[in-house]
Amino acid sequence: MSNRLNSTPNDLRAFWMPFTANRQYKKEPRLFVGAKDMHYTTHDGRQVLDGTAGLWCVNAGHCRPKITEAIREQAGELDYAPAFQLGHPKAFELANRLIDLAPDNMAHVLYTNSGSESVETALKVALAYQRVKGQGSRTRLIGRERGYHGVNFGGISVGGIVSNRKMFGTLLTGVDHMPHTHQPGKNAFSKGMPEHGGDLADELERIVTLHDASTIAAVIVEPVAGSTGVLIPPKGYLQRLRELCTKHGILLIFDEVITGFGRLGAPFAAQYFDVKPDIITTAKGLTNGVIPMGAVFVTAEIHDAFMTGPEHMIEFFHGYTYSGNPIASAAALGTLDTYKEEGLLTRAAEIAPYWEEKLHSLRDCPNVIDIRNLGLIGAIELKPIDGEPTKRAFNAFLNAYNDGLLIRTTGDIIALSPPLIITTEQIDELFDKLRKVLMNNI
Ligand SMILES: Cc1ncc(COP(=O)(O)O)c(C=O)c1O
Repeated sequence: MSNRLNSTPNDLRAFWMPFTANRQYKKEPRLFVGAKDMHYTTHDGRQVLDGTAGLWCVNAGHCRPKITEAIREQAGELDYAPAFQLGHPKAFELANRLIDLAPDNMAHVLYTNSGSESVETALKVALAYQRVKGQGSRTRLIGRERGYHGVNFGGISVGGIVSNRKMFGTLLTGVDHMPHTHQPGKNAFSKGMPEHGGDLADELERIVTLHDASTIAAVIVEPVAGSTGVLIPPKGYLQRLRELCTKHGILLIFDEVITGFGRLGAPFAAQYFDVKPDIITTAKGLTNGVIPMGAVFVTAEIHDAFMTGPEHMIEFFHGYTYSGNPIASAAALGTLDTYKEEGLLTRAAEIAPYWEEKLHSLRDCPNVIDIRNLGLIGAIELKPIDGEPTKRAFNAFLNAYNDGLLIRTTGDIIALSPPLIITTEQIDELFDKLRKVLMNNI
């Protein structure tokens, strides 16, 4: 008998869904069939308020006309152009626009198709840079416990989420990890950046002492750790990390796949925290999540180090078939126009105080053991059900969805990151709905 599944068009079996409880989902499917601004429409005709900007990506809200139009026009004008030894104008225009927005030490852009690929690209640039500078012994990469840097081998090697790593063999060698910065005993219910834990950056000194700086190429961190359940950097932490990297000649990579494009109230977290990394990875909000695209920003110093040797030679052996794809570039330009016209890259700064107040008002709900926030990011940590970790938050996710609210959960933590267009009335609605869910979720 054939193992092939019946190819009935609406059969759910063939799609092995990513990061999904497939068996539960397929018994009780949740499908979106439309979206506009702050809302999704479900297959059963309900409106769902988007509390997570899709997956931290739809920063300008859904189905925005400038972006839709840009894609439509580009698809009819130039669908594809090879990215190797050839180009098209919009990829160059976009790179210039990105550099104008980025921290002022950033000078060049490499394109990718996702956050995971941006991370791989950044790690490869870092290793190759050390080599072209004559420091080929610097091969070690340092990540952080609980870090999330996508799902490819470099990213899971420097990442620190055990379920994303443990199934996949030995990963990259020569990787070490700093401790994460979560100190619930000292920092629970912090508003904004926690007071305690800035000194955890000094753990890098310990790692340098163990391996020697001459073996370390780069440190990669998320300025705000998102996927692990939102860990806000303690005061002084990122500044200290920068000082130590500079002192030891180690490149500092900020993975801004979720913090990029306005999430904290500045275009990038590097600007928000006033810390200048050497490399920045982005994706998600670059095209408002509409077309897969990522970008890696590097300093002139890094780029220029490769620009040696005969001019007809390729300087860096890396890139993707879709690097700077015309339709993705057009979508990104439409996205940047939308952000600019509506002031979205700084809007989170205006509404963050209201967001913080409403978020922390849930402190009295049952089983809430921590609440944390920064910019337009919020997290509510729940006490796990005895012997059934993750179930309490997953139940909250299902109940919220049924009540018309999209939240995201990881472990027993609820993470919130709505589109940057959210109004104060919609913030009220979001937290009213969430209160109801938490009160009934005992
Ligand atoms: C910090 C960070 N890096 C990388 C990624 C991976 O991005 P993608 O899923 O587009 O590969 C994510 C995704 O959530 C992320 O949050």
